[in-house]
Amino acid sequence: MSRGSGCCRASRRSLGAGCSVPDAVRAPLPRGRFITLEGGEGAGKTTQVRRLAAALTEAGLPVLRTREPGGAPGAERIRSLLLSGGNWDPVAEAMLHFAARREHLARTIQPALAAGITVISDRFADSTLAYQGAGQGLPRPVWEQLSAVALEGFAPDLTLILDLPPETGMARAAGRGEPDRYERLGLGFHQRVREAFLAIAAAEPARCHVVNAARGADAVFADLRAIVFARPAP
Ligand SMILES: Nc1ncnc2c1ncn2[C@@H]1O[C@H](COP(=O)(O)OP(=O)(O)OP(=O)(O)O)[C@@H](O)[C@H]1O
Ligand SMILES: [Mg+2]
Repeated sequence: MSRGSGCCRASRRSLGAGCSVPDAVRAPLPRGRFITLEGGEGAGKTTQVRRLAAALTEAGLPVLRTREPGGAPGAERIRSLLLSGGNWDPVAEAMLHFAARREHLARTIQPALAAGITVISDRFADSTLAYQGAGQGLPRPVWEQLSAVALEGFAPDLTLILDLPPETGMARAAGRGEPDRYERLGLGFHQRVREAFLAIAAAEPARCHVVNAARGADAVFADLRAIVFARPAP
């Protein structure tokens, strides 16, 4: 049979009894995009993740909204440990974050991306570098080693860093009720976290965009939306 003739040419895969579909139909979906929102307490991450997910859904894209720590059953159990209390050794604490992240990646993020779904995560690995690194003194090489083991080179396609003075964010977060363990840490801690996020953005300008989050939620969303819709899929 000459190439390209009939229903069984090399570019088609057999469906059994003489039927076939073009490779273009059977080919895996293009990988979805992995977008992360980062920033300090009360920066508006959860608010904006919801709005971005709604905008992408409205544009016809399949979207999964998720969060860290958490985003998978085992990871949510680790979240409870981390946020409720405990006097963790900084390396142990970072290991818990990366254990949760590995579960999140393997069970939630990667399957969704492989199915062509855009995944938006409320925090990811940059938060561990900012909070446990700059905030709690975890050495960067330890973060890098844990990251290499847990993520195996995986990284977000796009990271939106919501930047604002920690005093403003803490005041917003305080309005929500009982503070979690990280919210209870002092202003100096949160200032170091802010500076760490800005340093990450400066070091990785192709991945990271800093957005002024000290404005109203509509203005912040307009900037985020423009950045997300301007970026092509990977
Ligand atoms: N741009 C904004 N201006 C004023 N208030 C805001 C803005 N964005 C969010 N808020 C409010 O501030 C509070 C914190 O917002 P949100 O929970 O989205 O922040 P977050 O970054 O997810 O905080 P956390 O790090 O604690 O999870 C909420 O009550 C929210 O309604
Ligand atoms: Mg939140």
